[in-house]
Amino acid sequence: MAVEARPKLDAHKLRADFPIFEQHFHGKPLAFLDSAASSQKPRQMLDAMREFYETSYANVHRGVYELAERATAGLEGAREKVRALVNASSTREIVFTRNATEAINLVAYAWGLNNLGPGDLVVVTELEHHSNYVPWQYMANRTGARFRMIPLDEQGELRLDALDELARDGDVKVAALGLVSNSLGTVNHVERVAAWAREQGAITVVDAAQAAPHRVVDVQALGCDFVAVSGHKMCGPSGAGALWGREELLQAMEPFNLGGHMISSVKAERTTWGELPHKFEAGTAPIAEAVGFGAAIDYLNEIGFDAIEAHEHELAAYALDRLAELPWVTSYGPPADRRAGIVSFNVEGVHPHDVAQILDLEGIAIRAGHHCCQPLMRKLGVAATNRASFYLYTIPEEIDRLVDGLHRVRTVFA
Ligand SMILES: Cc1ncc(COP(=O)(O)O)c(C=O)c1O
Repeated sequence: MAVEARPKLDAHKLRADFPIFEQHFHGKPLAFLDSAASSQKPRQMLDAMREFYETSYANVHRGVYELAERATAGLEGAREKVRALVNASSTREIVFTRNATEAINLVAYAWGLNNLGPGDLVVVTELEHHSNYVPWQYMANRTGARFRMIPLDEQGELRLDALDELARDGDVKVAALGLVSNSLGTVNHVERVAAWAREQGAITVVDAAQAAPHRVVDVQALGCDFVAVSGHKMCGPSGAGALWGREELLQAMEPFNLGGHMISSVKAERTTWGELPHKFEAGTAPIAEAVGFGAAIDYLNEIGFDAIEAHEHELAAYALDRLAELPWVTSYGPPADRRAGIVSFNVEGVHPHDVAQILDLEGIAIRAGHHCCQPLMRKLGVAATNRASFYLYTIPEEIDRLVDGLHRVRTVFA
């Protein structure tokens, strides 16, 4: 029988690319288990931004001098890298934003205001990050549409059997969901929800902030209409994210922000909008940030998304096994084979903030709180959880240190 060779990455070796790991915290090497909030940055990306600023920086698009053309080529080259990342058919469909949140707000405002109204239904999920929840809830309230959630089952997975019942409540116009949950690591069946939404005549808006750093995101295979990604979670700088949208939808939409760069002509009686994607990019773009985002994509491609996904999958399975050794720890979410490299848990009788503070003294950085998922926390019946999240530079020894640290937490609070 042919055995499929799974790509492997060497996280110990890759750590050398990340200057942050040269530091100690509280006298200990850094175990950075908070990549779901934002990732660390490799030298390759930092060098690309520095080089761009040192050799190629000017404002973009309107300059006729060589340096401005070089800067424009840098920005547009990064756009092409984002296009390839998500397998979009054209760079006209790639809009640079500050982050994933802004990308989703762009759709909620520019599409939602003109396409939602009384009798319509906006569907999100109980798993959703506030970034893909609050804009839709707000837009539903503002337009008179109804707002509904796809419920979760006991394992933190979407109950797709509830979809048809939801559709009885009104005309479904939007299904907004994440590809990977930032709290539980659940990998959602976006293709199935998108197919259902299409049958209803609705658009699907995918929050890929937690997916794009870790696995292949193919907008054509997903069958959705908009996808939001976030550069800072995938080895890129903060301040650079992107929206992919179907060209015909973007063409039909009103602009989101107004001002310079996004116009075709401005007259006292009327202003016309620029071509895609510039219609949605008012003001000076995050130029060097986009270049850094592009360099981060190159870096990740070099390692390979399949290798990254496989590595994190092993780490998640290992972490869940190790946490299961601790009877006073409750873990949340689906089994390892159906989740990404994110593990949420609670220590019996100890508030997550106390857990995180004690771990910090051991040089271990985890996140404690509601993870911008208050509806999910309510569903789980907790105010907050601890969350350890992994990336290409995470090593199993850090999970061992986490478990040792949890024993220490237990001793302190016993
Ligand atoms: C699932 C998910 N969506 C959206 C966001 C927001 O991303 P950004 O910070 O790029 O706006 C996050 C950040 O934690 C996230 O985890």
